[in-house]
Amino acid sequence: MNKERKLIIAGNWKMNKTAAEALDLVNGLKRELASVKEVDIVVCPPFTALDAVSKAILDSNLRLGAQNMSENGFGAYTGEIAAGMLKEFSVRFVILGHSERRQYQKEPDALISKKALAVHAAALKPIVCVGETLAEREGGRTEQVLETQVTGSLDGLSKEQMVETVVAYEPVWAIGTGKTATTEQAQSAHAFIRGVLVRMFDDTVARRVRIQYGGSVKPSNARELMSQPDVDGALVGGASLEVRSFADIIKNSI
Ligand code: PGA
Repeated sequence: MNKERKLIIAGNWKMNKTAAEALDLVNGLKRELASVKEVDIVVCPPFTALDAVSKAILDSNLRLGAQNMSENGFGAYTGEIAAGMLKEFSVRFVILGHSERRQYQKEPDALISKKALAVHAAALKPIVCVGETLAEREGGRTEQVLETQVTGSLDGLSKEQMVETVVAYEPVWAIGTGKTATTEQAQSAHAFIRGVLVRMFDDTVARRVRIQYGGSVKPSNARELMSQPDVDGALVGGASLEVRSFADIIKNSI
């Protein structure tokens, strides 16, 4: 597939996989995906499996991501994880502001932007998630919600930092539900988000930012979603937990 931006497909394992199970999965992915050069492939295990996965993917084309990070450096923050800890395991990407954290941990946009700045300060790359709920879509508020989340969560980033930031559009109603956004809904939301980035930064920056789609991505719908001009990859939950389905999503997207 000839794309303006290189595709980035990331597996968000959420709170799944012990370290031993994570090794099985990642060793299988290494075998299946060794020859793939067209897509940036990222796996995001839970913190407790970062060490094992990081060693297993040395010398492979898989890159490591974390699912969250503190906005603070080392210090008295019980239960939190600092950038310096992630760097020890060669983490390159950090998912921020996933809808589950927005919902269960009540993470607001202002906190997500602080985390994004901390991720960049550590020379890591954030994957910043945005997306509307079903009620917001049905109420005709999708664009308003996306604009608020994009401007709030990316507030304060420089142009150089924005270019190294990935945005994930994940309609909340499509996450883990089996309901995927239609290709038209996805393309239209992605184009809208890119337009917000033009207003916040400029056209050149907006054209370089990769925007992933997330929400029930599977091998059967990956190709069509990835063929949309403003869809530059995927953030995959459930289907990233099995070698077969995650590898097929990537192969079907090339
Ligand atoms: P899903 O999750 O692929 O299981 O819908 C996507 C996500 O939450 O990142």
